[in-house]
Amino acid sequence: MSTKTFKKRNPIIPISELEQMAFCQTSSNLRTKTLEEEFKSGVRWQKAPSRYLKLSSEELEEGIKEARSILGDELFILGHHYQRQDVIKHSDVQGDSYKLSVLASQAKAKHIIFCGVHFMAETAEVLSAEDQNVILPNMAAGCSMADMADIEDVQDAWNDLDAIFSNKDQIIPITYMNSTAEIKSLCGVNGGLVCTSSTAKKAFQWAFDRAQRVLFLPDQHLGRNTAKSLGIPLEEMVVWDPFKRMGGLSIDEIEKSKVILWKGHCSVHTRFTVEQIENARNEFDANIIVHPECTTEVVDRSDYVGSTEFIVDTINNASKGTAWAVGTEINLVNRLSINNKDKKIFCLDPVVCPCATMYRIHPAYLLWVLDGLRAGLIINHIKVSETVKRNANKAIKRMIAL
Ligand code: 13P
Ligand code: SF4
Repeated sequence: MSTKTFKKRNPIIPISELEQMAFCQTSSNLRTKTLEEEFKSGVRWQKAPSRYLKLSSEELEEGIKEARSILGDELFILGHHYQRQDVIKHSDVQGDSYKLSVLASQAKAKHIIFCGVHFMAETAEVLSAEDQNVILPNMAAGCSMADMADIEDVQDAWNDLDAIFSNKDQIIPITYMNSTAEIKSLCGVNGGLVCTSSTAKKAFQWAFDRAQRVLFLPDQHLGRNTAKSLGIPLEEMVVWDPFKRMGGLSIDEIEKSKVILWKGHCSVHTRFTVEQIENARNEFDANIIVHPECTTEVVDRSDYVGSTEFIVDTINNASKGTAWAVGTEINLVNRLSINNKDKKIFCLDPVVCPCATMYRIHPAYLLWVLDGLRAGLIINHIKVSETVKRNANKAIKRMIAL
Protein backbone atom coordinates (compact mmCIF):
# COMPACT_ATOMS: atom_id res chain seq x y z
CA MET A 1 0.00 0.00 0.00
CA SER A 2 1.27 3.54 -0.66
CA THR A 3 2.65 5.47 2.29
CA LYS A 4 0.94 8.77 1.48
CA THR A 5 -1.02 10.43 4.25
CA PHE A 6 -4.71 10.25 3.59
CA LYS A 7 -6.31 13.69 3.67
CA LYS A 8 -9.90 13.20 4.72
CA ARG A 9 -12.19 15.50 2.78
CA ASN A 10 -15.93 15.86 2.72
CA PRO A 11 -17.54 14.41 -0.39
CA ILE A 12 -17.86 17.24 -2.88
CA ILE A 13 -20.75 17.40 -5.31
CA PRO A 14 -19.39 18.97 -8.51
CA ILE A 15 -20.92 22.39 -9.18
CA SER A 16 -21.87 21.14 -12.63
CA GLU A 17 -24.09 18.53 -10.97
CA LEU A 18 -25.71 21.08 -8.66
CA GLU A 19 -26.50 23.10 -11.78
CA GLN A 20 -28.01 20.15 -13.59
CA MET A 21 -31.65 21.01 -12.73
CA ALA A 22 -31.31 24.59 -14.03
CA PHE A 23 -33.08 23.99 -17.33
CA CYS A 24 -35.64 21.42 -16.12
CA GLN A 25 -39.24 22.33 -16.90
CA THR A 26 -42.63 20.69 -17.16
CA SER A 27 -43.43 21.89 -20.69
CA SER A 28 -41.32 20.62 -23.56
CA ASN A 29 -40.53 24.14 -24.78
CA LEU A 30 -36.78 24.27 -25.26
CA ARG A 31 -36.97 27.20 -27.69
CA THR A 32 -33.71 29.16 -27.89
CA LYS A 33 -34.00 32.53 -26.14
CA THR A 34 -31.51 35.38 -26.35
CA LEU A 35 -28.32 34.69 -24.44
CA GLU A 36 -29.29 37.49 -22.04
CA GLU A 37 -32.51 35.63 -21.20
CA GLU A 38 -30.73 32.29 -20.86
CA PHE A 39 -28.17 33.84 -18.50
CA LYS A 40 -31.02 34.01 -15.95
CA SER A 41 -31.06 30.22 -15.57
CA GLY A 42 -28.59 30.25 -12.68
CA VAL A 43 -25.74 28.23 -14.19
CA ARG A 44 -22.22 29.43 -14.86
CA TRP A 45 -21.92 30.73 -18.39
CA GLN A 46 -18.76 31.92 -20.04
CA LYS A 47 -18.78 35.71 -20.45
CA ALA A 48 -19.37 36.78 -24.05
CA PRO A 49 -19.15 40.26 -25.59
CA SER A 50 -22.32 42.28 -25.01
CA ARG A 51 -23.18 42.52 -28.72
CA TYR A 52 -24.08 38.80 -28.68
CA LEU A 53 -26.43 38.98 -25.70
CA LYS A 54 -29.56 40.37 -27.32
CA LEU A 55 -29.45 38.68 -30.73
CA SER A 56 -32.58 36.65 -31.57
CA SER A 57 -32.26 33.07 -32.81
CA GLU A 58 -33.08 34.31 -36.35
CA GLU A 59 -30.30 36.92 -36.23
CA LEU A 60 -27.88 34.34 -34.86
CA GLU A 61 -28.78 31.89 -37.61
CA GLU A 62 -28.20 34.48 -40.29
CA GLY A 63 -24.83 35.49 -38.78
CA ILE A 64 -23.66 31.88 -38.44
CA LYS A 65 -24.61 31.07 -42.05
CA GLU A 66 -22.76 34.12 -43.33
CA ALA A 67 -19.62 33.35 -41.30
CA ARG A 68 -19.70 29.73 -42.44
CA SER A 69 -19.91 30.68 -46.09
CA ILE A 70 -16.91 33.01 -45.74
CA LEU A 71 -14.77 30.52 -43.78
CA GLY A 72 -15.68 27.66 -46.18
CA ASP A 73 -13.39 24.61 -46.13
CA GLU A 74 -11.22 26.04 -43.36
CA LEU A 75 -13.95 25.00 -40.98
CA PHE A 76 -15.36 21.66 -39.80
CA ILE A 77 -18.19 21.69 -37.26
CA LEU A 78 -18.96 18.55 -35.25
CA GLY A 79 -22.27 18.26 -33.38
CA HIS A 80 -23.06 15.76 -30.63
CA HIS A 81 -26.60 14.33 -30.70
CA TYR A 82 -27.49 16.15 -27.46
CA GLN A 83 -26.99 19.60 -28.93
CA ARG A 84 -30.03 21.80 -29.29
CA GLN A 85 -31.56 22.03 -32.76
CA ASP A 86 -30.47 25.69 -33.23
CA VAL A 87 -26.86 24.55 -32.92
CA ILE A 88 -26.84 21.11 -34.52
CA LYS A 89 -28.39 22.44 -37.72
CA HIS A 90 -25.08 24.23 -38.38
CA SER A 91 -22.91 21.12 -37.92
CA ASP A 92 -21.23 19.28 -40.81
CA VAL A 93 -21.56 15.93 -39.04
CA GLN A 94 -23.55 14.60 -36.10
CA GLY A 95 -22.86 11.54 -33.99
CA ASP A 96 -22.12 9.84 -30.69
CA SER A 97 -18.83 10.47 -28.96
CA TYR A 98 -17.11 7.54 -30.70
CA LYS A 99 -18.14 8.52 -34.21
CA LEU A 100 -17.25 12.17 -33.61
CA SER A 101 -13.80 11.33 -32.27
CA VAL A 102 -13.05 9.21 -35.36
CA LEU A 103 -14.35 11.97 -37.65
CA ALA A 104 -12.28 14.56 -35.77
CA SER A 105 -9.16 12.42 -36.26
CA GLN A 106 -9.81 12.32 -40.03
CA ALA A 107 -10.70 16.00 -40.45
CA LYS A 108 -8.52 18.06 -42.79
CA ALA A 109 -9.92 21.51 -41.95
CA LYS A 110 -7.73 24.08 -40.20
CA HIS A 111 -10.37 24.87 -37.59
CA ILE A 112 -12.42 22.16 -35.87
CA ILE A 113 -15.35 23.50 -33.86
CA PHE A 114 -16.76 20.98 -31.40
CA CYS A 115 -20.39 21.58 -30.49
CA GLY A 116 -20.43 19.18 -27.55
CA VAL A 117 -18.76 19.20 -24.15
CA HIS A 118 -15.21 19.80 -22.96
CA PHE A 119 -13.96 16.18 -22.84
CA MET A 120 -15.10 15.69 -26.45
CA ALA A 121 -13.26 18.79 -27.68
CA GLU A 122 -10.18 17.75 -25.69
CA THR A 123 -10.26 14.32 -27.36
CA ALA A 124 -10.49 15.98 -30.77
CA GLU A 125 -7.47 18.11 -29.83
CA VAL A 126 -5.52 15.00 -28.76
CA LEU A 127 -6.29 13.40 -32.14
CA SER A 128 -5.75 16.51 -34.26
CA ALA A 129 -2.64 17.49 -36.23
CA GLU A 130 -0.16 20.19 -35.12
CA ASP A 131 -1.53 22.78 -37.54
CA GLN A 132 -5.20 22.31 -36.60
CA ASN A 133 -7.11 24.24 -33.94
CA VAL A 134 -9.91 22.75 -31.87
CA ILE A 135 -12.47 25.18 -30.49
CA LEU A 136 -15.22 24.67 -27.89
CA PRO A 137 -17.77 27.51 -28.28
CA ASN A 138 -18.46 27.80 -24.52
CA MET A 139 -15.69 26.81 -22.10
CA ALA A 140 -18.27 26.28 -19.33
CA ALA A 141 -19.71 23.32 -21.25
CA GLY A 142 -18.20 20.55 -19.12
CA CYS A 143 -19.74 17.27 -17.94
CA SER A 144 -20.87 16.66 -14.36
CA MET A 145 -19.83 13.00 -14.60
CA ALA A 146 -16.33 13.86 -15.83
CA ASP A 147 -16.09 16.33 -12.91
CA MET A 148 -16.53 13.39 -10.50
CA ALA A 149 -13.06 12.08 -11.33
CA ASP A 150 -10.27 14.44 -10.44
CA ILE A 151 -6.82 13.44 -11.74
CA GLU A 152 -5.24 13.71 -8.29
CA ASP A 153 -7.81 11.34 -6.78
CA VAL A 154 -7.43 8.96 -9.71
CA GLN A 155 -3.63 9.02 -9.44
CA ASP A 156 -3.90 8.31 -5.66
CA ALA A 157 -6.26 5.41 -6.32
CA TRP A 158 -3.98 4.02 -9.01
CA ASN A 159 -0.98 4.25 -6.66
CA ASP A 160 -2.92 2.32 -4.00
CA LEU A 161 -3.96 -0.35 -6.50
CA ASP A 162 -0.50 -0.53 -7.99
CA ALA A 163 0.90 -1.27 -4.55
CA ILE A 164 -1.45 -4.26 -4.23
CA PHE A 165 -1.18 -5.47 -7.83
CA SER A 166 2.40 -5.02 -8.88
CA ASN A 167 2.12 -7.26 -11.96
CA LYS A 168 0.78 -5.80 -15.19
CA ASP A 169 -1.53 -8.78 -15.70
CA GLN A 170 -3.38 -8.08 -12.45
CA ILE A 171 -5.18 -4.84 -13.34
CA ILE A 172 -5.83 -2.63 -16.38
CA PRO A 173 -7.35 0.88 -16.18
CA ILE A 174 -10.13 1.78 -18.61
CA THR A 175 -11.56 5.26 -18.72
CA TYR A 176 -14.82 6.28 -20.31
CA MET A 177 -14.42 9.00 -22.92
CA ASN A 178 -16.22 11.27 -20.40
CA SER A 179 -13.05 12.08 -18.48
CA THR A 180 -10.17 14.54 -18.67
CA ALA A 181 -7.21 14.12 -21.02
CA GLU A 182 -4.99 13.62 -17.93
CA ILE A 183 -7.01 10.54 -16.92
CA LYS A 184 -6.83 9.23 -20.48
CA SER A 185 -3.08 9.80 -20.31
CA LEU A 186 -2.82 7.83 -17.04
CA CYS A 187 -4.57 4.93 -18.78
CA GLY A 188 -2.26 5.22 -21.78
CA VAL A 189 0.86 5.10 -19.58
CA ASN A 190 -0.40 2.13 -17.56
CA GLY A 191 -1.34 -0.21 -20.40
CA GLY A 192 -5.01 0.79 -20.44
CA LEU A 193 -7.40 2.39 -22.87
CA VAL A 194 -10.36 4.68 -23.42
CA CYS A 195 -13.84 3.51 -24.31
CA THR A 196 -17.16 5.07 -25.25
CA SER A 197 -20.61 3.63 -24.69
CA SER A 198 -20.40 1.97 -28.11
CA THR A 199 -16.97 0.41 -27.52
CA ALA A 200 -17.18 -0.45 -23.80
CA LYS A 201 -17.85 -4.17 -24.28
CA LYS A 202 -14.91 -4.62 -26.65
CA ALA A 203 -12.68 -2.58 -24.34
CA PHE A 204 -13.53 -4.84 -21.37
CA GLN A 205 -12.87 -7.95 -23.48
CA TRP A 206 -9.55 -6.47 -24.60
CA ALA A 207 -8.59 -5.80 -20.99
CA PHE A 208 -9.69 -9.23 -19.72
CA ASP A 209 -7.59 -10.88 -22.45
CA ARG A 210 -4.59 -9.19 -20.80
CA ALA A 211 -5.36 -8.91 -17.09
CA GLN A 212 -7.44 -10.37 -14.27
CA ARG A 213 -9.32 -7.21 -13.39
CA VAL A 214 -10.28 -3.73 -14.52
CA LEU A 215 -10.41 -0.32 -12.88
CA PHE A 216 -13.24 1.51 -14.66
CA LEU A 217 -13.56 5.31 -14.53
CA PRO A 218 -15.66 7.38 -13.95
CA ASP A 219 -19.18 5.99 -14.63
CA GLN A 220 -20.06 3.16 -12.27
CA HIS A 221 -23.28 2.44 -14.22
CA LEU A 222 -21.72 2.02 -17.65
CA GLY A 223 -19.00 -0.10 -16.02
CA ARG A 224 -21.48 -2.29 -14.13
CA ASN A 225 -23.81 -2.71 -17.13
CA THR A 226 -20.92 -3.62 -19.41
CA ALA A 227 -19.34 -6.10 -16.99
CA LYS A 228 -22.75 -7.68 -16.33
CA SER A 229 -23.36 -8.09 -20.07
CA LEU A 230 -20.09 -10.09 -20.17
CA GLY A 231 -21.33 -12.43 -17.46
CA ILE A 232 -19.40 -10.99 -14.53
CA PRO A 233 -21.51 -11.37 -11.37
CA LEU A 234 -22.34 -8.25 -9.35
CA GLU A 235 -20.56 -9.79 -6.34
CA GLU A 236 -17.28 -9.49 -8.24
CA MET A 237 -17.69 -5.74 -8.68
CA VAL A 238 -16.79 -3.17 -6.04
CA VAL A 239 -17.23 0.60 -5.95
CA TRP A 240 -14.22 2.82 -5.26
CA ASP A 241 -15.22 5.93 -3.30
CA PRO A 242 -12.51 8.57 -3.81
CA PHE A 243 -13.48 10.31 -0.57
CA LYS A 244 -12.59 7.30 1.57
CA ARG A 245 -9.25 5.76 2.45
CA MET A 246 -8.49 2.94 -0.03
CA GLY A 247 -11.77 3.76 -1.76
CA GLY A 248 -13.65 2.51 1.32
CA LEU A 249 -12.64 -1.09 0.51
CA SER A 250 -10.66 -3.76 2.31
CA ILE A 251 -7.62 -5.37 0.64
CA ASP A 252 -9.57 -8.63 0.60
CA GLU A 253 -12.52 -7.02 -1.26
CA ILE A 254 -10.14 -5.46 -3.77
CA GLU A 255 -8.24 -8.71 -4.33
CA LYS A 256 -11.43 -10.71 -4.85
CA SER A 257 -12.92 -8.21 -7.33
CA LYS A 258 -12.86 -8.44 -11.12
CA VAL A 259 -14.11 -4.90 -11.68
CA ILE A 260 -13.40 -1.81 -9.57
CA LEU A 261 -15.94 0.86 -10.44
CA TRP A 262 -15.23 4.53 -9.77
CA LYS A 263 -18.05 6.20 -7.83
CA GLY A 264 -19.32 8.49 -10.59
CA HIS A 265 -22.62 8.81 -12.44
CA CYS A 266 -24.50 10.88 -14.99
CA SER A 267 -27.13 13.09 -13.38
CA VAL A 268 -29.20 13.09 -16.60
CA HIS A 269 -29.36 9.31 -17.04
CA THR A 270 -29.84 8.37 -13.39
CA ARG A 271 -33.20 10.22 -13.49
CA PHE A 272 -34.75 7.29 -15.39
CA THR A 273 -36.62 4.75 -13.26
CA VAL A 274 -38.23 1.32 -13.43
CA GLU A 275 -41.59 2.94 -12.63
CA GLN A 276 -41.31 5.16 -15.72
CA ILE A 277 -40.63 2.03 -17.79
CA GLU A 278 -43.70 0.29 -16.40
CA ASN A 279 -45.87 3.33 -17.14
CA ALA A 280 -44.59 3.53 -20.73
CA ARG A 281 -45.31 -0.17 -21.28
CA ASN A 282 -48.77 -0.05 -19.69
CA GLU A 283 -49.94 3.16 -21.35
CA PHE A 284 -48.43 2.90 -24.85
CA ASP A 285 -47.13 -0.64 -25.20
CA ALA A 286 -43.85 1.12 -25.97
CA ASN A 287 -40.46 -0.36 -26.79
CA ILE A 288 -37.98 0.80 -24.18
CA ILE A 289 -34.59 2.00 -25.38
CA VAL A 290 -32.03 3.49 -23.01
CA HIS A 291 -28.44 4.67 -22.81
CA PRO A 292 -26.03 2.44 -20.79
CA GLU A 293 -25.33 5.30 -18.34
CA CYS A 294 -28.74 4.44 -16.80
CA THR A 295 -28.80 2.32 -13.64
CA THR A 296 -28.58 -1.47 -13.96
CA GLU A 297 -32.19 -1.98 -12.84
CA VAL A 298 -33.36 0.35 -15.65
CA VAL A 299 -31.07 -1.26 -18.24
CA ASP A 300 -32.20 -4.75 -17.18
CA ARG A 301 -35.85 -3.87 -17.79
CA SER A 302 -35.27 -2.21 -21.17
CA ASP A 303 -35.63 -3.81 -24.59
CA TYR A 304 -32.64 -2.07 -26.15
CA VAL A 305 -29.54 -0.42 -24.74
CA GLY A 306 -26.83 1.48 -26.57
CA SER A 307 -25.04 4.69 -27.43
CA THR A 308 -26.77 7.77 -28.78
CA GLU A 309 -25.90 6.72 -32.35
CA PHE A 310 -27.39 3.26 -31.68
CA ILE A 311 -30.57 4.89 -30.35
CA VAL A 312 -30.82 7.11 -33.46
CA ASP A 313 -30.27 4.20 -35.87
CA THR A 314 -32.64 1.85 -34.06
CA ILE A 315 -35.51 4.34 -34.00
CA ASN A 316 -34.95 5.63 -37.54
CA ASN A 317 -35.05 2.02 -38.82
CA ALA A 318 -38.05 0.91 -36.74
CA SER A 319 -41.40 0.04 -38.34
CA LYS A 320 -44.14 2.61 -38.83
CA GLY A 321 -46.66 2.83 -36.01
CA THR A 322 -44.28 1.57 -33.29
CA ALA A 323 -43.98 3.39 -29.95
CA TRP A 324 -40.64 4.19 -28.31
CA ALA A 325 -39.95 5.38 -24.78
CA VAL A 326 -36.41 6.72 -24.76
CA GLY A 327 -34.09 6.98 -21.76
CA THR A 328 -31.65 9.62 -22.88
CA GLU A 329 -31.20 13.39 -23.22
CA ILE A 330 -34.30 15.37 -24.22
CA ASN A 331 -32.89 17.34 -27.17
CA LEU A 332 -32.11 14.07 -28.93
CA VAL A 333 -35.50 12.58 -28.01
CA ASN A 334 -37.31 15.66 -29.36
CA ARG A 335 -35.35 15.53 -32.61
CA LEU A 336 -36.10 11.82 -33.04
CA SER A 337 -39.77 12.54 -32.52
CA ILE A 338 -39.78 15.36 -35.14
CA ASN A 339 -37.88 13.21 -37.67
CA ASN A 340 -40.07 10.12 -37.14
CA LYS A 341 -43.61 11.43 -37.39
CA ASP A 342 -44.88 7.94 -38.31
CA LYS A 343 -43.87 6.61 -34.85
CA LYS A 344 -44.70 7.61 -31.30
CA ILE A 345 -41.49 8.73 -29.60
CA PHE A 346 -41.30 10.18 -26.12
CA CYS A 347 -38.89 10.58 -23.22
CA LEU A 348 -39.24 8.11 -20.35
CA ASP A 349 -39.02 10.99 -17.87
CA PRO A 350 -42.05 13.32 -17.99
CA VAL A 351 -39.96 16.22 -16.64
CA VAL A 352 -38.06 17.89 -19.47
CA CYS A 353 -34.46 18.04 -18.28
CA PRO A 354 -31.73 18.71 -20.85
CA CYS A 355 -28.08 18.05 -20.07
CA ALA A 356 -27.23 21.45 -18.54
CA THR A 357 -23.67 21.40 -19.81
CA MET A 358 -24.47 20.40 -23.42
CA TYR A 359 -27.16 23.09 -23.34
CA ARG A 360 -24.56 25.79 -22.73
CA ILE A 361 -23.54 25.68 -26.38
CA HIS A 362 -25.93 28.47 -27.29
CA PRO A 363 -25.83 29.66 -30.94
CA ALA A 364 -24.56 33.06 -29.74
CA TYR A 365 -21.32 31.36 -28.64
CA LEU A 366 -21.02 29.63 -31.98
CA LEU A 367 -21.36 32.97 -33.77
CA TRP A 368 -18.84 34.56 -31.40
CA VAL A 369 -16.12 31.97 -32.14
CA LEU A 370 -16.87 32.12 -35.89
CA ASP A 371 -16.59 35.92 -35.88
CA GLY A 372 -13.30 35.46 -34.04
CA LEU A 373 -11.96 33.22 -36.82
CA ARG A 374 -13.04 35.78 -39.44
CA ALA A 375 -11.02 38.36 -37.54
CA GLY A 376 -8.00 36.02 -37.26
CA LEU A 377 -8.61 35.21 -33.56
CA ILE A 378 -8.91 31.74 -32.07
CA ILE A 379 -11.37 32.07 -29.20
CA ASN A 380 -11.73 29.14 -26.76
CA HIS A 381 -8.79 27.25 -28.20
CA ILE A 382 -8.56 23.81 -26.55
CA LYS A 383 -4.99 22.99 -25.57
CA VAL A 384 -3.49 19.84 -24.06
CA SER A 385 0.16 19.61 -22.97
CA GLU A 386 2.50 17.59 -25.20
CA THR A 387 3.08 14.72 -22.72
CA VAL A 388 -0.59 14.34 -21.86
CA LYS A 389 -1.47 14.50 -25.55
CA ARG A 390 1.00 11.74 -26.46
CA ASN A 391 -0.12 9.36 -23.70
CA ALA A 392 -3.84 10.08 -24.05
CA ASN A 393 -3.48 9.53 -27.78
CA LYS A 394 -2.09 6.04 -27.07
CA ALA A 395 -5.16 5.16 -24.96
CA ILE A 396 -7.63 6.56 -27.52
CA LYS A 397 -5.90 4.85 -30.46
CA ARG A 398 -6.13 1.53 -28.57
CA MET A 399 -9.89 2.05 -28.54
CA ILE A 400 -10.07 2.98 -32.22
CA ALA A 401 -8.04 -0.15 -33.08
CA LEU A 402 -10.50 -2.49 -31.27
P1 13P B 1 -22.52 8.72 -26.53
O1 13P B 1 -21.13 8.25 -26.71
O2 13P B 1 -23.52 7.62 -26.55
O3 13P B 1 -22.84 9.82 -27.51
O4 13P B 1 -22.66 9.31 -25.07
C1 13P B 1 -22.02 10.46 -24.64
C2 13P B 1 -22.63 10.98 -23.43
O5 13P B 1 -22.11 11.88 -22.80
C3 13P B 1 -23.87 10.39 -22.96
O6 13P B 1 -24.28 11.04 -21.80
FE1 SF4 C 1 -22.04 14.29 -19.07
FE2 SF4 C 1 -24.40 13.12 -18.54
FE3 SF4 C 1 -24.31 15.38 -19.99
FE4 SF4 C 1 -23.44 13.05 -21.01
S1 SF4 C 1 -25.54 13.58 -20.44
S2 SF4 C 1 -22.41 15.04 -21.16
S3 SF4 C 1 -22.53 12.11 -19.16
S4 SF4 C 1 -23.70 15.13 -17.83
